[in-house]
Amino acid sequence: MGELDNNMETTADIAEVYEKSVVPTYTPGVALVKGKGTKVWDAEGKVYLDFAAGIAVLNLGHCHPMVTEAITRQAAELVHVSNLYYNEKQARLAAKLSDLAGGGKCFFCNSGAEANEAMIKLARAWGRDHGKFEIISMRNSFHGRTLGAMAATGQEKIRNGFDPIPAGFHYADFNDLESVAALVSATTAAILVEAVQGEGGVIPATREFMQGLRALCDAKGLLLLCDEVQCGMGRTGKWFAFEHSGIKPNAFSLAKSLGNGFPIGAMVASDSCCDVLQPGSHASTFGGTPLACAAALATISGIEMERLLMKSTKSGALLKGKLEAFVERYEHVVGVRGQGLMLGLVLDVPAKEIVDAMFDIGLITIATAQNVIRIVPPLNVDEEEIEEAIDIMEDALAEWHGVDLAEPEEEDEPLAVATE
Ligand SMILES: Cc1ncc(COP(=O)(O)O)c(C=O)c1O
Repeated sequence: MGELDNNMETTADIAEVYEKSVVPTYTPGVALVKGKGTKVWDAEGKVYLDFAAGIAVLNLGHCHPMVTEAITRQAAELVHVSNLYYNEKQARLAAKLSDLAGGGKCFFCNSGAEANEAMIKLARAWGRDHGKFEIISMRNSFHGRTLGAMAATGQEKIRNGFDPIPAGFHYADFNDLESVAALVSATTAAILVEAVQGEGGVIPATREFMQGLRALCDAKGLLLLCDEVQCGMGRTGKWFAFEHSGIKPNAFSLAKSLGNGFPIGAMVASDSCCDVLQPGSHASTFGGTPLACAAALATISGIEMERLLMKSTKSGALLKGKLEAFVERYEHVVGVRGQGLMLGLVLDVPAKEIVDAMFDIGLITIATAQNVIRIVPPLNVDEEEIEEAIDIMEDALAEWHGVDLAEPEEEDEPLAVATE
């Protein structure tokens, strides 16, 4: 194993071993080796402002001292116990999430896709006695890459090539209540929605749509399921993005930022439906370990102590205002959308080239839905960092201003989605 004996100090060293050894589902650019707050360093020592935050994962920024301390302390005490035994940290985290959600019980797992799988199984277990099993999700949604979560994802390009896709999923138009109502049948068990579509292009659901879905579910006896994997945990200025609409789902999923980078996912299900999952019906070896739950508890404490719900609302408004000014100044910038610190700069050209140009100058963002630059910095980003990021965006946009970029193609390039 010669490669493993070599020093892997540069991006080229690391890439050489990576390309030979890692299944090519991703196309990484540089090797990142260190992070602190909103900054991250590559193997060559170049520093970047990280306005992608590991794709909406690092809500407290890189290596937040409270999370690092909690992980370190817990790792020295008890890393893992099976779910055949109680563990205090899991009980505490479940109680805390239930408190934040205004009730309900939690099932813990390790990722967003798994949290959504738990919701899919919840819906099927709940509907079983009445012959209900179908789930209506939205076009343009993203729910993960496992078979069930992929089947729920309303994007053909994600599902293509993996037939047979699990049955029982139908897709309605996002923000179009009538298109959802038209799909409800005697076998419908649940409606699944992101309160802000992330990978689909940072598109918030309207208040009317979310309230209409709640009313539809109540009228037809269906579960309303919210995927909060990307938009949850304070990202939009509230703990959970569905709160902006004043509604409560029957269950919702969390992952990404729940452990500020430590892998953990959760389903929070209301008391009225959670008990349909009984011993033996669902499980995960690593779900809710003391270590993962300690990281999540510290993350929640950090968000509370730094008052990040308020701060992300304020910083989001500041950043949004500055991005809106680009619409006036640059011909390829056509809009800004999003909530809190989950923002999208909408272009009329492919976003990837401009994202790459920003990256070269030292700002990390994400190209999504072909023509949207997704901007999701840590929630504790400061004003100076926002100014710095805006300056970099301005430099990159100025470079492109007047340049005749190709129109976005119909189908997303794999690169635009391979990062999720
Ligand atoms: C809304 C949403 N749901 C689910 C997922 C899947 O999460 P994971 O990659 O942790 O499985 C993602 C990932 O981007 C997401 O944005």
